[in-house]
Amino acid sequence: MPSISNRATHAYASPIRKLSPFANRAKAAGKQVFHLNIGQPDLLTPRSAITRVQTSNLDVIAYAPAEGIPSYRRRLVSYYQSHNIELTVDQILVTIGASEAIFFSLLSCLNPGEELIVPEPFYAIYNGFAQIAGVKIVPITCSLDASFALPEIADFEKCMSPCTKAVLICNPNNPTGCVYPPAKLADLAAFVKKHNLFLFVDEVYREFCYDDQVFFSALNLPGLEEHVVVFDSVSKRFSLCGARVGAAVSRNAAVLASIVRFARLRLSAPSLGQMLAEAALEEPADYLIATKAAYRERRDLVFDRLSKMPGVKTYLPKGAFYCFAALPLADADHFCQWLLEEFSWEGKTVMLAPGNGFYASPHLGKSEVRIAFVLNLEDLNLAMDCLENALRVYSEK
Ligand SMILES: Cc1ncc(COP(=O)(O)O)c(C=O)c1O
Repeated sequence: MPSISNRATHAYASPIRKLSPFANRAKAAGKQVFHLNIGQPDLLTPRSAITRVQTSNLDVIAYAPAEGIPSYRRRLVSYYQSHNIELTVDQILVTIGASEAIFFSLLSCLNPGEELIVPEPFYAIYNGFAQIAGVKIVPITCSLDASFALPEIADFEKCMSPCTKAVLICNPNNPTGCVYPPAKLADLAAFVKKHNLFLFVDEVYREFCYDDQVFFSALNLPGLEEHVVVFDSVSKRFSLCGARVGAAVSRNAAVLASIVRFARLRLSAPSLGQMLAEAALEEPADYLIATKAAYRERRDLVFDRLSKMPGVKTYLPKGAFYCFAALPLADADHFCQWLLEEFSWEGKTVMLAPGNGFYASPHLGKSEVRIAFVLNLEDLNLAMDCLENALRVYSEK
């Protein structure tokens, strides 16, 4: 049999899904598994958007233009305007989820061997795309004790090398729930400008900021027009994960032209997904207000329950829909697998994402987990019961 490539053999294993075979076995054995491992919301997609696509008179499901359906891109201009971000249609390129925007941006802006500074823990999938693109992630560690605040610019300076080409942040942050204040972003902007770097900002959780947090888009950082590339998505905003529609947004025409070259190779982002996304943007504001309120309630519940578990350390997320927590154990990878393979509480268990995969530093995150609060309050409560009991049983082993 011909052998598969080294690239494939060493491909990065997503911590979000790598325990799925164990979850499937647990379910086949009759256990109920609460999925807190993945950011797949249970909230309903706007009904009117689904109905609009169901009732449209389609004869052929055609390719869309590589850059995206024109009416959808125009609609996106108004969407950004409603967030006080002024853009033109040609500054927005529709992609197959934010995932593709990330991948194409890395391919477009960095040569193999060049370096990308990323505060860790970070959205684990960046590791995978960086690996395929041959780009080296240089992590800059944020700590739970400092509420995962963005490190000082002096620490970013220490990460610089002749190969540094870009900085990537996620705001609001997956997995930490941090929302970065405008002053911190301005400091980072000055750093990026000084060293002539790209600034990639993953803003897929833009709408989900809680309490007194105000979201500030990197697209509004003055003087950074040529540096900033924003990754966006409708997956979380409208519970449209399966539509596979995102965007790469930038005022740097050369970057977008380069991404378009890659986009032409894959011909088109899903045309049905774009129709859904366009219809979802016409949804009254109430939809997102209610969505955000639901996540805030879920966050409060999970944070409250975690805070009361002996030995668990966590931080109140200010945005997105994840809690990153340190558990009183040495090997969260083992614990998460044990939860699925061996543990059950009243016929139920919980699936979590082990923390280590959200770091580029190999020794970090070993006792940490990411918990996505994407289920209804009742299920979340039961999932927290499972976790609380599991921690007790595991510690007595
Ligand atoms: C921070 C972040 N960026 C990008 C993505 C990928 O989004 P999409 O479904 O649009 O590919 C996710 C999905 O969980 C995410 O959390």
